[in-house]
Amino acid sequence: MENNLKKIRLANDISISELANLCQVTESYITKLEKGNCKISQRMLKKLSRIFNSTEEDMMGYQKTMNLSGSDVTFTNNKKESIHRWYPYIEGFSQGFVEAIIKEYDLDALVYDPFNGSGTTTLTCAFNGYRSIGTEVNPLMRFVANTKVNVVRSIINNNKIDKFRIEIDNYVKETNKRLSSDIDYTIYINSLYFTYDFFSEDNIKTIAKIKKYYSLIRDDDIRDLFKLSLVGILVECSNMIRSVDLRRRKGSELKRIPNDMNSRYIDQLLKILNDIKSVKDISLIEMKLIGDNAKKRYVEYENKVDVIITSPPYVNGTNYFRNTKLELWILDFISDEKDLKELRTNAITAGINNVSKSIDSHTELEFVEKYARALDDVAKDKRIPKLVRAYFSDINTTFINFYRLLKDRGRVYFDIGDSQYYGVHIPVDKLISKIAKSNGFLEISNEVIRNRKSKNGMLLSQRVIIFEKGMNTK
Ligand SMILES: C[S@@+](CC[C@H](N)C(=O)[O-])C[C@H]1O[C@@H](n2cnc3c(N)ncnc32)[C@H](O)[C@@H]1O
Repeated sequence: MENNLKKIRLANDISISELANLCQVTESYITKLEKGNCKISQRMLKKLSRIFNSTEEDMMGYQKTMNLSGSDVTFTNNKKESIHRWYPYIEGFSQGFVEAIIKEYDLDALVYDPFNGSGTTTLTCAFNGYRSIGTEVNPLMRFVANTKVNVVRSIINNNKIDKFRIEIDNYVKETNKRLSSDIDYTIYINSLYFTYDFFSEDNIKTIAKIKKYYSLIRDDDIRDLFKLSLVGILVECSNMIRSVDLRRRKGSELKRIPNDMNSRYIDQLLKILNDIKSVKDISLIEMKLIGDNAKKRYVEYENKVDVIITSPPYVNGTNYFRNTKLELWILDFISDEKDLKELRTNAITAGINNVSKSIDSHTELEFVEKYARALDDVAKDKRIPKLVRAYFSDINTTFINFYRLLKDRGRVYFDIGDSQYYGVHIPVDKLISKIAKSNGFLEISNEVIRNRKSKNGMLLSQRVIIFEKGMNTK
């Protein structure tokens, strides 16, 4: 990879051996760095910037490519990865994306994912020895992300793998005896969606029996693994499908529902057991969910974060709560439709159904107005321009917080896609860049990772933008 190191060294009249001395590395290493034959680590970059009193972008040249492929910024690769695969997620990125970034940092770095979702960032950090923190608005996803790291850690550190295996054996024995008997499922499942036919009568009874069983497990960690095994297979065993959004199955999709939900559940428990066994020699580093809302201020962590790795909700992207409503219902996070609405109030305004309440309190951003006004003119649904204004206002609030949380020169790796409404293209990356810059960040690079097409055929792209907290720029 091209960089400016040689140019800067010569301009400063420093020989290779002098520089090697100053950096306490070998001359051949400096030569390799200059030729771009090996990657400059974040630590080395900091050292060089200090020596030459230059910025990191000057050292590297503006374009810093990450060599990512499209699948790194989707959840696809995670479906094969130990532990990541415990919950079928669509909107995430992959372990490889996070690894490509954190390997540039020293092991004492603190990583933050403000939109932690299923926990790809925090689990990858835990696997690789990095401390991490996260915020996430959806309580189901907080449960999933916490279980994948902290519960697994506790199971391993407290030698409870055997106990978990024995509990699975016991479950299998119990179910052979009693799962065939009838059950009053209304005792174990709240009535919210009973009338919606989301599950067959048989499967709703199986779910009730599973809940009955795990409610009696005394060990919190083992109970959480039994719960996570259930949420990991719920949609698969329902009449619904998550095909981008959650919807009813049609035609042949109905044939893909497993015939025997209880066997599928046991398989899932065993998959979880085997994954834990396979990581038992790696000491997972604890992660911490510091709160439920990236828009809130977390004073305790200000100036402590080295790097933010995240993918926020896309404007009018997924409805994260509706998509997880079966799991939220079965795990009793909601018992009323009002609860779903309540959860949406803290979320980034990214869909038209949470437009009305947030709309009056947004910050007006002059560079967003051009697009919002164009939509005022053409949008039949008047919520759309409101959504666009509120979305960028929320993103602005999160960037104010990013600036507070990051150390000087800390970076944000932001995975984002653009959108269009009524033929008006919203250049989300450019607008986010403006937001970041107005909050004291420099843009280090902006790379297209994947192209996609909107319903009306407009070419849209998914990008990774790297920002750096400038010193004294704010
Ligand atoms: C694109 S997903 C992140 C997926 C994650 N990178 C992964 O691999 O699992 C965006 C997440 O942001 C969450 N979210 C939305 N508004 C939020 C807010 N105000 N604070 C924290 N999380 C929020 C959503 O619930 C969703 O889980």
